[in-house]
Amino acid sequence: MIISSTSDYRAAAQKRLPPFLFHYIDGGAYAEQTLRRNVEDMAAVALRQRVLKDMSRLDTSIELFGEKLSIPVALSPVGLTGMYRRRGEVQAARAADAHGIPFTMSTVSVCPIEEVAPRIKRPMWFQLYVLKDRGFMQNALERAQAAGCSTLVFTVDMPVPGARYRDAHSGMSGPNAAMRRYWQSVTHPAWSMDVGLLGRPHDLGNISAYRGSPTGLADYIGWLGANFDPSISWKDLEWIRAFWKGPMVIKGILDPEDAKDAVRFGADGIIVSNHGGRQLDGVLSSARALPAIADAVKGQIKILADSGIRNGLDVVRAIALGADCAMIGRAFIYALAAAGEAGVKHLLELLEKEMRVAMTLTSVSKVADITGDLLVREA
Ligand SMILES: Cc1cc2nc3c(=O)[nH]c(=O)nc-3n(C[C@H](O)[C@H](O)[C@H](O)COP(=O)(O)O)c2cc1C
Repeated sequence: MIISSTSDYRAAAQKRLPPFLFHYIDGGAYAEQTLRRNVEDMAAVALRQRVLKDMSRLDTSIELFGEKLSIPVALSPVGLTGMYRRRGEVQAARAADAHGIPFTMSTVSVCPIEEVAPRIKRPMWFQLYVLKDRGFMQNALERAQAAGCSTLVFTVDMPVPGARYRDAHSGMSGPNAAMRRYWQSVTHPAWSMDVGLLGRPHDLGNISAYRGSPTGLADYIGWLGANFDPSISWKDLEWIRAFWKGPMVIKGILDPEDAKDAVRFGADGIIVSNHGGRQLDGVLSSARALPAIADAVKGQIKILADSGIRNGLDVVRAIALGADCAMIGRAFIYALAAAGEAGVKHLLELLEKEMRVAMTLTSVSKVADITGDLLVREA
């Protein structure tokens, strides 16, 4: 199979993964309108082609929170990454590290912080969910700091998990889920050998390390529903702000008023995100939410953005719409599921190449010059 894009990796991931995992990654909430719009609205952003300006020297790097990134991209936190490829968090983190960009570890990762951090050179970012057990949150922050994590990504758009119809159909949840998952595993032997057999323990590594006993993954969706905390408000974040020494980024901002609250709260950054269309279906795509948020807070706080970024051209588009840095979720997960660490490395090389083409043909030689001036404004 020839692989030259994220959609090729998606097709390869679909072949290799048992359907319950492929659809868990690929799917979104309810009718998946926002999931589709994320991709379509981003792809519809037209850039002004400019020529003959000597683009022989390009610099794709940026500085963010005191770190140098080779391209303005970070890996978004993705739960259960170690179920898509053997010890997947380690493999994805190593690929990001090799390319010179941050890997963000999810709260609900398979590998615990302590398994991943020592295997990479640059500090990883750590993503925290609001869980009812505040003892766990404090323990996770202490361990992340002890392991040298630099930036805290605090996800606020999941006080309750969104309804994802595909999960019930695929066997991720729903009737006879365990039996259906078992059957799917048997019929996907490459995955069964790599992850099912050699990728153990299958656990929420950060949570079992805190509890001192395995969590298992049998009722993952049920666990999310029981442990997420809908009572969260800005006030609850104050102790985290005081406790966390490094930069703190609020993930899941889609409205300019919330972006202004994040500035008032004293956050270092926001991530414009609708969780990849996995939470409230029908909300704005990131491409459409970005310009108003940038108008409201650009320059006062770092703006990161994910949801719908599939290639290097999209990275340039997101920055032209107002982001300082892009993040990718599914794109790297498809590559990881299909081809492990090498797949993610290759995907990042593709992204960088595509960025360079986009920068050359819009005549910008450095990321700081990617601004709203690049956008075609319809009359
Ligand atoms: C399978 C999957 C699991 C995810 N798990 C988490 C998570 O644990 N924490 C989090 O903050 N976001 C999580 N997200 C959301 C991503 O961080 C990111 O916002 C989203 O994937 C971006 O959209 P994209 O997939 O279109 O790039 C998850 C997304 C996917 C696809």
